[in-house]
Amino acid sequence: MFLPQGPKTPPLVQLIQWIANPFALMESCAQRYGDWFTLKVGLNYRPLVYVNSPQLLQEILTNDTYKQFDAPGEMNEILTPLLGNSGVMMQSGDRHRRHRQLMVPPFHGDRMKAYGDIITEITQQVISRWNPNQPFSMRDSMQAISFNVILQAVFGLREGESYQQIEKLLYDMLELTNSPLKASQLFFPFLQRDLGAWSPWRKFLRQKQHLNQILQTEIEARRANPDPARTDILSLLMAARDEAGEPMKDEELRDELITLLVAGHETTATALTWALYWIHKLPEVRQKLLAELDSLGDTPDHNAIVRLPYLNAVCSETLRIYPIGMLTFPRVVRSPVTLLGQQLEPGTVLVGSIYLAHHRPDLYPEPKQFKPERFLERQFSPYEYLPFGGGVRRCIGAAFALFEMKLVLATILSNLELSLANNRPVRPMRRGLVSAPTRVEMVMTGRRKRAEGAEGAEEAEGEKRSQYTGKNSLTTNY
Ligand code: HEM
Repeated sequence: MFLPQGPKTPPLVQLIQWIANPFALMESCAQRYGDWFTLKVGLNYRPLVYVNSPQLLQEILTNDTYKQFDAPGEMNEILTPLLGNSGVMMQSGDRHRRHRQLMVPPFHGDRMKAYGDIITEITQQVISRWNPNQPFSMRDSMQAISFNVILQAVFGLREGESYQQIEKLLYDMLELTNSPLKASQLFFPFLQRDLGAWSPWRKFLRQKQHLNQILQTEIEARRANPDPARTDILSLLMAARDEAGEPMKDEELRDELITLLVAGHETTATALTWALYWIHKLPEVRQKLLAELDSLGDTPDHNAIVRLPYLNAVCSETLRIYPIGMLTFPRVVRSPVTLLGQQLEPGTVLVGSIYLAHHRPDLYPEPKQFKPERFLERQFSPYEYLPFGGGVRRCIGAAFALFEMKLVLATILSNLELSLANNRPVRPMRRGLVSAPTRVEMVMTGRRKRAEGAEGAEEAEGEKRSQYTGKNSLTTNY
């Protein structure tokens, strides 16, 4: 069976490199082998063909509806410990399509826009807890925002004891895989063993069980008090019937909720953390953004914010340079297909390397530089720029995530002066199955008064910056 070339190192070495430094491994392979290569890093060292040329990505992602290529849920089994077996990511074929049909509409159009006020309100609440001149972890704050936003979308509520418990449990569970070393547990199933009271996996299993119980209680409470006026996603999922007229089983409902809670907040929180890092690392980016935001006046309309070209370019460049999902989910060849003159046999597994596609110098000159302007100067096709993947598994929350990013950034930048707390280098690293920056610490240096002209804004900025004392204490800020 043909497989594109790849490193000759033993599969275990490849897998360790993939876990420890996925970016370096992909880059060295792309340099050596070009548009596609094979790494033996799937579960049980299964070979995966990494694809990064837009032509190949287009070929695969426009034909992944079960005939030539497929996107089977079983291929995502690495996520099962966290997300269970019954959510959308684990479904295949028609079942997968039905799950998506239910879940896509609430995250688009007017239903999505209805969350605008909630997003800005939650942002205001979280940033009001930042104490001046005290360094804090930007990720924790962004996670607090995105978690509350997704809770509102999924449950229609964000306050109450059970929601606090859900937040804490999810946070702890995700922390269990937040470094390359800890993420090994996901890649080596033999590490997923309960080795006694203090073993990390026992802890993880207990937390997962507890989370399931809370969600089950929530589902039962809804069932006991149905309210047809509710439009949150749990209500929609509970009201849905399949072609045989059957409702979703409780296990399916639970897994779907966990999928949305995890996929819908970690990723957006990471994107926001990176965006705020770049904006404050590069003063000219911040100045341009502030000038654009100020041009909208004191109380800008959400639609106007979302349409701002430079803000859009900053969000796009943030998701280009270090895409949070480094890869698409796997696609499997179903019937023999010829790519780059080679016939691939059924069963061959391919993944789109979003990171490598975004770092092709033919598309993105100086790919390591953060340059929002590239998105103003030209348009990229969905196979050249694909932070949300593509085809049948394209991210359900893509529009929602961008909407949220823009409103959160606009709210923070318009109201506060921030700066990076130190010059420590910030790099991308593995966080579970996705990527994230190493710690980004920032300080709030003052409130921002919107000035009439850009000069005024700069003056206000200079004044507030000088107040920063550079204190380096640990903080109770979010
Ligand atoms: C910046 C934020 C986000 C990024 C970068 C991101 C990225 C991705 C990527 C790369 C995929 C795989 C697509 C493929 O295989 O072709 C994906 C799938 C998915 N995303 Fe997102 N995502 C983000 C936010 C969200 C949000 C806010 C939600 C929920 C509201 C969400 C829910 C999902 C789901 C459910 C899937 C699986 C779809 C399926 O299996 O059919 N994501 N996302």
